[in-house]
Amino acid sequence: IPVENFDLVIFGGTGDLSRRKILPALYCRRRAGQLPADARIIAAAHSDKDQDSFRDLVRTSLQTFLDESVKDDALVEAFLDQCIYVRLDALGDDGWSDLREQLREDAVRAFYFSVGPSLFGPLSERLVTHQISTADSRIVVEKPFGHDLESARALNNDLAQCFKESQIYRIDHYLGKETVQNLMALRFANVLFEPLWNSHYVDHVQITAAEEIGVEGRGAYYDQSGAMRDMVQNHLMQLLCLTAMEPPAGVAPDDIRNEKLKVINALTDVPTSDIVRGQYRSKGDKGSYLEDCGNPDSRTESFIALKTHVETWRWAGTPFYLRTGKRLRNRMSEIAVTFKEPPHNIFADRAPNLSGNTLVIRLQPDEGIKLHVLIKEPGPGGIRLTEVPLDMTFADLSNRSSIATPDAYERLLMDVIRGDQTLFMRGDEVEAAWSWADRMITQWEQSADRPRPYDSESSGPEDALMLMHRDNRRWREIE
Ligand code: BG6
Repeated sequence: IPVENFDLVIFGGTGDLSRRKILPALYCRRRAGQLPADARIIAAAHSDKDQDSFRDLVRTSLQTFLDESVKDDALVEAFLDQCIYVRLDALGDDGWSDLREQLREDAVRAFYFSVGPSLFGPLSERLVTHQISTADSRIVVEKPFGHDLESARALNNDLAQCFKESQIYRIDHYLGKETVQNLMALRFANVLFEPLWNSHYVDHVQITAAEEIGVEGRGAYYDQSGAMRDMVQNHLMQLLCLTAMEPPAGVAPDDIRNEKLKVINALTDVPTSDIVRGQYRSKGDKGSYLEDCGNPDSRTESFIALKTHVETWRWAGTPFYLRTGKRLRNRMSEIAVTFKEPPHNIFADRAPNLSGNTLVIRLQPDEGIKLHVLIKEPGPGGIRLTEVPLDMTFADLSNRSSIATPDAYERLLMDVIRGDQTLFMRGDEVEAAWSWADRMITQWEQSADRPRPYDSESSGPEDALMLMHRDNRRWREIE
């Protein structure tokens, strides 16, 4: 179903995120028939470019970042006709009237701030003073949304001077991933899991986002952030919230965001003994974290594992283990909910330990949901138990319905145009998440603690394994 006609302005429209993610996602939506043919995509940036050289840039980006299977030369040319470049000074007044002239009265206006957070305030002000934004315009902002609680508050204030909360779309691209949305469907469209979804039946939850890549040329940014700020405060936190939240009353954005906020506010502070931070070593021709970030003295972590609790009636006593890192063995992100063992084992003579069932909600690489159950091994030899997965791999389902799994940005961008904030973070959510993360960061910043080195292509530092072993549990393989 096509969305309403729109003019989307991308500030920083020639930058990396725009080229890699935003423009390809818009092209894919055009291909899917969702983009009105006269919707305008307006890149606003400070360099002096004419329309032709901008279109060349878009063409090259699509060539580089689109999957072969979706490339179509004629469609690319049609898409380019929708793309406009406006030269503009974010901190001055040049170019703003040109931008205003490009916008139509009868189209939804959306402004994507694909720029550093220091420009959020100046851009907002100019959108208002040049009478470019309307009361219904959408403002899209990218992470990092602040560096800590104080800076996130300042950004929220800057935006609030100019726009209502209902106009602000804070992107966390993990929320646009198909499996993450499916987690809600699984929990709340079925009766099977919810009665067991509590500390009486759930032994623990593990949330992992493992990456094979290192900091890849983003060393300067990353060294100021580290895994806690880059991944845990936002992406892993959102996964935790959707896993742990109470059933919302409906799917209105605030129904869900209110429930997520309650989870963040119920998170316990994590003592130093329950946090392991690491830095990857070099391997072959690949540099170490210290080399990649260009700071031989860095105390920033490229890996973190921690144990926290959600202190509510539902979850008291069930630990949530979070882990993320770069240069690990594989790229793998998942939420694994491990249930307790049955209260009485009638198979004790053959199987003294019945492992609990595990529900694995996999974000990547192979998106899908698996429920590991014990069954009898086929054959005449009496009862022997074996674990098998009940497997819902989304690729199989998409093949069946001929719908390819869309990239997170495709979904999120269309939600912006539709005016649906469900998959975007509210200001108070972001602040609560920073408040929790800040308390940990302050602990290690004030100590002499250094991250533990770990081998590239491993599962992270040995101590991270200990975090589980000492609770008689183990991490799932990164595979
Ligand atoms: C980004 C982080 O938000 O998410 C990156 O800044 C990280 O450091 C990326 O690599 C991971 O996203 P995905 O979708 O590849 O898991």
